[in-house]
Amino acid sequence: MTTRTAGPIISPSILAADFAALGQEVRAVSEAGADWIHLDVMDGHFVPNITFGPDVVKALRPHSAKVFDVHLMIAPADPYLAAFAEAGADAISVHVETGPHIHRSLQTIRTLGKRVGIALNPGTPASAIEPLIDMVDLVLVMTVNPGFGGQSFIPSTLETIARIKAMTAGRAIDIEVDGGITAENVGLAAAAGANAFVAGSAVFKGGPAGYAERIAAIRAGAGGTVAC
Ligand code: DX5
Ligand code: ZN
Repeated sequence: MTTRTAGPIISPSILAADFAALGQEVRAVSEAGADWIHLDVMDGHFVPNITFGPDVVKALRPHSAKVFDVHLMIAPADPYLAAFAEAGADAISVHVETGPHIHRSLQTIRTLGKRVGIALNPGTPASAIEPLIDMVDLVLVMTVNPGFGGQSFIPSTLETIARIKAMTAGRAIDIEVDGGITAENVGLAAAAGANAFVAGSAVFKGGPAGYAERIAAIRAGAGGTVAC
């Protein structure tokens, strides 16, 4: 299991990849310098879009040794947690908005031996996750409303990131931002306190020849050093 690394963590979201060649795409971003691979699971109920389930995660697992960062945008999540763990997820994030028994979901992920993530939408105040901080390894701050790639970063989420940074001070908790992240705005999220950065369009748009360069640009924008 991976713990916090010193530099920025870049987690390309395969939501923006070529779905007809997902194995190849995961391999390509892994070789191009991705730290984690972000897998967006949508159910057409919690969010207005549908993507893929545990069988796809399982099929992708042999294509990369990187951390599989699974973002569940499904309600309920509990019936599927074991299946995602068995499919090869390393980190599993569930949304605080998905139900009244979020502790149970977080405890289940912990019991499954995976990194425990709590996600929150841009309209949800940071205080909503305060009682859960001791249970998690990762806070996933949505910087767009979840459901689709290619949306614009919502600036008011910077305040949420800063509040969560203060809330998690002294703890080994990753703060990950997700939605509309680019090489140009990633520095704002980093300055507010994020250390892990999801990027879909900003990595995949333009095709595989540019993956390494675009990942390096996001890393540099986040304040990391770029190995050549
Ligand atoms: C949105 C997803 C994001 C999305 C990010 O619901 O959770 O991970 O893929 O894509 P971009 O970077 O294009 O906003
Ligand atoms: Zn996501």
